[in-house]
Amino acid sequence: MMRASLPLRRGMPTSVLGSVSANLARPSSVLAAPSASKFTSLQSNKAPSNLSKRFYSSKTPNEIASEAQADFDPHAITAMDKQSPPEPGADFNVVIVGAGNINFGSDEGPWNHSFRLEHKLGPRLKVVGLIDPSADRAEKVLDVKRKSFVLSAYKDTIVYPTFADYVRNRDPAKPPHAFWVGSPPAFRGREESGRDLEKALVEAFPNAGIFIEKPVSTGPVDEAFAIAERLKSAGNIVSVGYMLRYLKVVQKMKQILEENNLKVMATNARYIMAYEHTAKLDWWDKSQTCGPIVEQATHFCDLSRYFGGEVDLDSVLAHSLEHFEPAGHLRRVPVPEETIAPEQRIPRITCATWKYTSGAVGSLTHAVALHGYNYSTELDIIADGHSLRLVDPYNAPVLYFRRPGDDHEEVVRYQSDDPFFSEVSNLIDNIELGPGSAPILSSYEDAVKTYALTWQIRNRSEEQVRKLGKGPANF
Ligand SMILES: NC(=O)c1ccc[n+]([C@@H]2O[C@H](COP(=O)([O-])OP(=O)(O)OC[C@H]3O[C@@H](n4cnc5c(N)ncnc54)[C@H](O)[C@@H]3O)[C@@H](O)[C@H]2O)c1
Repeated sequence: MMRASLPLRRGMPTSVLGSVSANLARPSSVLAAPSASKFTSLQSNKAPSNLSKRFYSSKTPNEIASEAQADFDPHAITAMDKQSPPEPGADFNVVIVGAGNINFGSDEGPWNHSFRLEHKLGPRLKVVGLIDPSADRAEKVLDVKRKSFVLSAYKDTIVYPTFADYVRNRDPAKPPHAFWVGSPPAFRGREESGRDLEKALVEAFPNAGIFIEKPVSTGPVDEAFAIAERLKSAGNIVSVGYMLRYLKVVQKMKQILEENNLKVMATNARYIMAYEHTAKLDWWDKSQTCGPIVEQATHFCDLSRYFGGEVDLDSVLAHSLEHFEPAGHLRRVPVPEETIAPEQRIPRITCATWKYTSGAVGSLTHAVALHGYNYSTELDIIADGHSLRLVDPYNAPVLYFRRPGDDHEEVVRYQSDDPFFSEVSNLIDNIELGPGSAPILSSYEDAVKTYALTWQIRNRSEEQVRKLGKGPANF
């Protein structure tokens, strides 16, 4: 049974050639750099070993697609203001991990998980804990909430500096139903103490649902696969924040492929970011945020995999344009980039190609190139007789598609889509109504495969730089 945002019914889009009110503003990564974190460079992140290879199946993209898609209805009403008001009822206890932008919003984008939780759960929401080493930041966001109509959800929220502190001092009378994890990825996805949140979490709370932001880690890919295995055997319901999968236009693309029994022949992703206002120094430093492929293009690598299926990681080829090459000079870098070690400065362009296990070909061009604010992002899916072109999924998602019998592109837009609300709503439904009650479109294991692809692209591009003997020392 599907819930409010995802009924079973399927059909044609409500607005073909209509207008779009979905305003997803700018892509996530402008502000996604974890500011509080200092961690070692991960240039040694290796291709997956035998452990991780266990996670790679021989499923076809269509099999993966139909499994993942369940019965997602592109007609479903996903805007928060179009939902029925949440009903009163028993408390739903949430522990929020990270008092930063993704959980509490910023003016840089539409993300704000707490706002969606409030609208999903209404008076039932009780945020029983907020875990953040920065008590100041945590108290500031709570202060704002307590001055608003959602006071009841936050009036008794206790701030804890660490997860361990929460476990030790929590009120056992308020067991958490869900953890909402938006801490920097440097502090999760690993086995090492202090970065092993998932491990500690499932040991202490085997029945709690868990939401985890992308990317799943900044650590070794193998360790992230080990965490995937741990989560799987623990059995907690887990959802990862690749929210673009929840876009109705994305689900419409899935529907076209499925209904026409199409095999994807190629995916072609293009992500041209506007860098002029990206003023977080850490974002420009690979030793801090792992670089723009692992941190930013991850959303498009994920969408590519969502359509193309499993990637043969050994097939990945990549080139980059680096800051020390003549064509790599940028005139409006808004941070003192010279303070970053030369070998840790980010590439300006990364172009990669790969094979999917189906034989299909994938490609990605990521560029740090535009001025102004708006990014230019597109994903093409090519199949026999069909071209599906997803344009601007962050701001104003539109699907242009061409099918047999017509040389013209049809245009699909949906009113008031909110993929962030859908991912929040669906996880809550799974926790409350049981697994499978609404589609969870990004599992932890699947998200680790995206993480592995992004590292493989980064590593392959850097290998090429070294092969050409052009990079600075230690590159
Ligand atoms: N899906 C999206 O569109 C999207 C958008 C923005 C951010 N994100 C992701 O969300 C995550 C957080 O990003 P952000 O922009 O909110 O960062 P941020 O820097 O704004 O906030 C991070 C918060 O976590 C706190 N923190 C640091 N270490 C912690 C720990 N060990 N435990 C708990 N809290 C800790 C910091 O003090 C800070 O308050 C990143 O993984 C990022 O990629 C995703």
